Amino acid sequence: MDKKRVTDEKRLLHGGDYNPDQWLAYPEILKEDVVLMQKAHTNTFSIGIFAWAALEPEEGIYDFEWLDDVIERIHAIGGRFILATPSGARPTWMSKQHPEVLRVDASRRKHLHGARHNHCFSSLYYREKTQAVNAKLAERYGNHPALLMWHISNEFGGECHCDLCQANFRNWLKEKYANDLDQLNDSWWGPFWSHTITDWEQVESPSPIGETAVHGMNLDWRRFVSQQTIDFYKNEIKPLREKTPDIPITTNFMSDNPAFTPFTGLDYHQFAKEVDVVSWDAYPAWHNDKEDTATLAAKVGFLNDHFYAMKDQPFLLMESTPSGVNWHDVNKAKRPGMHYLSSMQMLAHGSDSVLYFQWRKSRGSSEKFHGAVVDHDRSPENRVFKEVARLGQAMETVSEKVVGYQRKAKVAIIYDVENEWALNDAQGFGLKTKKYGETLQTHYQAFWDKNIAVDVVSKDVDFEQYDLVLAPMLYMMSETTAKRLQAYVAKGGTLVATYMTGLVDEADLTHMGGWLAPLKETFGMEPMETDTYYPTDENSLEFNGKIYDIRDYATIIECESAGELAAYRYDFYQNTPAVTVNRYHDGRAYYLGARLERSFLTDFYGELIADLALMPPLDITHERGVSVQAREADGLKTIFIMNFTEELQVIEINEEVRDIQTDETLNGRLALDPYEVRIVEKEG
Ligand code: GAL
Repeated sequence: MDKKRVTDEKRLLHGGDYNPDQWLAYPEILKEDVVLMQKAHTNTFSIGIFAWAALEPEEGIYDFEWLDDVIERIHAIGGRFILATPSGARPTWMSKQHPEVLRVDASRRKHLHGARHNHCFSSLYYREKTQAVNAKLAERYGNHPALLMWHISNEFGGECHCDLCQANFRNWLKEKYANDLDQLNDSWWGPFWSHTITDWEQVESPSPIGETAVHGMNLDWRRFVSQQTIDFYKNEIKPLREKTPDIPITTNFMSDNPAFTPFTGLDYHQFAKEVDVVSWDAYPAWHNDKEDTATLAAKVGFLNDHFYAMKDQPFLLMESTPSGVNWHDVNKAKRPGMHYLSSMQMLAHGSDSVLYFQWRKSRGSSEKFHGAVVDHDRSPENRVFKEVARLGQAMETVSEKVVGYQRKAKVAIIYDVENEWALNDAQGFGLKTKKYGETLQTHYQAFWDKNIAVDVVSKDVDFEQYDLVLAPMLYMMSETTAKRLQAYVAKGGTLVATYMTGLVDEADLTHMGGWLAPLKETFGMEPMETDTYYPTDENSLEFNGKIYDIRDYATIIECESAGELAAYRYDFYQNTPAVTVNRYHDGRAYYLGARLERSFLTDFYGELIADLALMPPLDITHERGVSVQAREADGLKTIFIMNFTEELQVIEINEEVRDIQTDETLNGRLALDPYEVRIVEKEG
């Protein structure tokens, strides 16, 4: 496996968002920055993200001199810069002079100027202005040797319901439904509550003071918003592609917070096709009071494996915090060692960078207490600063063995954002207990605990590259996906699905005539009813002699060719199948009818891991909470051994490896301090 480099930089990137435009009145601070940047062992800075007011203080009057200076200073210390396009926040003059750039929300309220990330994606004026300023940036800096990549806007998201967006929505629908209202009404189940549309002009986007009950329309609106956002982005990058065809382009993706599950605002699988490099902003709430460190670490692993799989190549951690943030309920400081560990985890899962928001704490406004490399004390002796510098130094020593190294997995778990949209819209089941993202993360954890690499993929990937495919809660399933899964199993694949799988099609209409035929054939059974539990309801099943609790959902199943692996212990469906397996041609298809506690998933997947001979990257024995993740290239594996517990862990490495930081040969027992990381190498 060769290296896959995503930028021309050989070093791991270390640095982050740098907002010198907030400090133009403090020249001593700007001078101090570059001194501290070197002390912090940082090398890469994202600049200009929210600098539009400094770049174009009046309409059509540009000022780049301050940016020239900043760039030259970074260049002079051997640093690189990621240049942002400034569309994430507008100058005030623009909103006042061209109010069409302001969004209208779902309740049809026109917003005032303020905050950020809130421009209309349809506004022609805004589209022209972003192209104009981007063209100027590309002309001025496109050939600068320190320019590393483009950072388009910031964290795209949200929606606008203005007249321009309504018109675009209608046009999008006309194209989708071949200008045929009958097709639209069929897809939207029009006659329901007399909601038949008889003229395209009657279509209006969903609204809390209007339409919310037409699920097909909600789904189309979300698709439209996602495509319109991507279209806006494509418009933004045109001048950059023209003038700087060799400079890679990214835009920073994110997660849904505070749940720390995949972002549901946009279809990132579609968006990822349009960027050269995937990058994302990770803000896990370490040391929170709801979960242990290992559980949260597995969620971080899941999201990383999702971003890696989007382009099957290394990604960049574009933002993270060296300490606390300012928007969690409780903004806790990272305990000593956690910054090092959590950053190394990103590298272990395929990131070629550790970048922060932000370089220096602001003096005023809402982010003045957000964690940053340089605190208000401006001191390199600051605890957080020293942790950053320690990490930077370590990154320098391992760069060569990490940058461009790939990840490899034989297990895939499907995450489908359209499925999440439809599932969350579904009125029925438990309104608060669907938890699609969390459910996937719980399944994923069973593999993370055993150091088995997993790709978090879209439903459109080639399943045949995997030995095991998990499709939990894939409620929305087209006939095409069902047939692709069937073909995968027929050719020898192992598939696991759960309760609520395959109930509606891609228009969010239920399948008629029971479960889809390809699913019935593959699983050899049919789900007949989904029972939903109150938190106080109790049921359980017995699997391999152990009892496991059931929560939230239980499917009543009728088996045809499938065999029963476990049965319900109580209720009117007592002794009927809860977990089944079917041999279908050369493969097997498992159906988990109920939502089961984590220990069941550990044991159930543990058996599958053994059956399929899925191998961790290293022969190692340890307690839960230690994680081993690998990257590989040129016949070598770089393996990160990470202690995500607050205790000393004695582990046993059952083969010979070399610690790439100390050059020691390791084999046998090894003590890992709380939060300690060892990075080792082996052939193969
Ligand atoms: C991100 C955003 C940054 C900064 C950060 C604070 O979502 O992109 O600009 O606000 O949050 O955690």
